[in-house]
Amino acid sequence: MNTVPLLNTADARPLQFPIPANVYAQSVVSVRHYTERLFSFRITRPQSLRFRSGEFVMIGLPNAEKPVFRAYSVASPSWDDELEFFSIKVPDGPLTSELQKIEIGDTVLMRQKATGTLVVDALTPAKRLFMISTGTGVAPFASLLRDPDTYEKFDQIVLTHTCRDNAELTYGQELVASLEADPLIGELTSGRVTLYNSTTREESERMGRITGLIETGKFYSDLDIEPLNPETDRIMICGSMHMLQDVKALAEKLGFKEGSLANPAEFVVERAFVG
Ligand code: A2P
Repeated sequence: MNTVPLLNTADARPLQFPIPANVYAQSVVSVRHYTERLFSFRITRPQSLRFRSGEFVMIGLPNAEKPVFRAYSVASPSWDDELEFFSIKVPDGPLTSELQKIEIGDTVLMRQKATGTLVVDALTPAKRLFMISTGTGVAPFASLLRDPDTYEKFDQIVLTHTCRDNAELTYGQELVASLEADPLIGELTSGRVTLYNSTTREESERMGRITGLIETGKFYSDLDIEPLNPETDRIMICGSMHMLQDVKALAEKLGFKEGSLANPAEFVVERAFVG
């Protein structure tokens, strides 16, 4: 059985915990801290892992007999040979209080199955795709924006990302800025992706929750686009539980119907990782 040596910092005794059965043990390749609340990391990809861009996996640490696992959207596309994640840091969170301390070479555990509803196959084809995100909810869209399938199914993509402050927007801004230079998908994405940012707790060029910005029409006038319409558009939503409830209610009010892999339709929702 594989074991991972751990250093118990309280008494500096090395501890050994077995890797649970049917779990991948992967190495951390890079870590980047954006703010006191947000960081991203990349791990090696198990060769046998298959997933659709937009899906999530269960992540844990080898720091207990029965490790705590939490759902994490994969932020890298399905063709990438590493796996990227964008995470919140919760000081007393059962996983993130420890996960935020990972360094290159550390071991991260991952259950073997990927799943989720934020996949293009759960939507019927349309002209425009609106990806509505808050906080770490941008992660599955980082995956989908780097997947050629997304551009096969939709002509124009609008990513909205709302965070408490400006620094929290950096991950999404850098992602979108990097698309056109990407050797694999750069040409496909050219002129087809629009990023729409706002903040709610710090002064910025645009302030307010996305729900309010859509409801007042400011979203449409800022971008100079036609209003959301189920005839031409599809919506993917990822954020906190309350955000999902509110944006879903808004989508339904506009006449959009929720889809799934079994019954593709006009919008899909998924809760971003919290805790
Ligand atoms: P606010 O600052 O007004 O709560 P969090 O980091 O807590 O998940 O929040 C990320 C962003 O999502 C914040 O800008 C937050 O705004 C916004 N938000 C929180 N709840 C909702 C909601 N019900 N609908 C739309 N946006 C929301």
